[in-house]
Amino acid sequence: MKHIVILCILLSLLMSCNEQSNIEKKTSTTEKGEYLVTIAGCNDCHSPKIMTANGPAPDPNKLLSGHPADELPAAYDTLSSKAWILFSLSGTSAHGPWGTSFAANITPDATGIGGWTDEQFLNAMQNGNYHGIDGTRKLLPPMPWFTYAKMKKEDIIAIFEYLKSIKPVKNIVPEFIPPAS
Ligand code: HEC
Repeated sequence: MKHIVILCILLSLLMSCNEQSNIEKKTSTTEKGEYLVTIAGCNDCHSPKIMTANGPAPDPNKLLSGHPADELPAAYDTLSSKAWILFSLSGTSAHGPWGTSFAANITPDATGIGGWTDEQFLNAMQNGNYHGIDGTRKLLPPMPWFTYAKMKKEDIIAIFEYLKSIKPVKNIVPEFIPPAS
């Protein structure tokens, strides 16, 4: 009996250590993901901006929530837009020969990447498939997925872990507008 009690105590200690190391592993993966998101410039396009003394900076309340649904594309000069790529002031939408694209909501809300699986996220980042689903459409510029496709799989998963850990923001990003024919 005494032996069984000791065995149980040892087992439960072992299990809680294991749990602890799983939590630590998750935290370090999330931190790595945050680091990668920061240096890979995801905020440049995916976060609405606020004006600061140093110029536009990601809005901490809307981090990575994509082009705001209520921000209609501003009018642009159609002549120069044939020779230039135009970005909206927040950097969340861009106009070029492909039409007008809007940076996606990549927060863990249902209107973002909330219901996504690892496979979907990898498919979007490595193959440029919209919503990470085969047979949809290819992701449009300026999303540089072909550059991110060169990342190690574990780094892309770390990014996904981080994105799943941030504040979910409800925002239905507009569908892209094809070029005027
Ligand atoms: C230069 C601008 C730019 C940068 C930098 C950028 N993105 Fe994007 N991203 C976009 C745009 C615009 C779209 C929408 C493209 C479309 O509708 O086809 C998009 C789409 C996506 C999608 C697909 C969403 C969907 O619903 O299919 C994911 C996932 C994504 N980006 C993740 C990232 C991550 C992670 C980073 C940083 C590692 C990043 N993006 C950096 C502009 C950018």
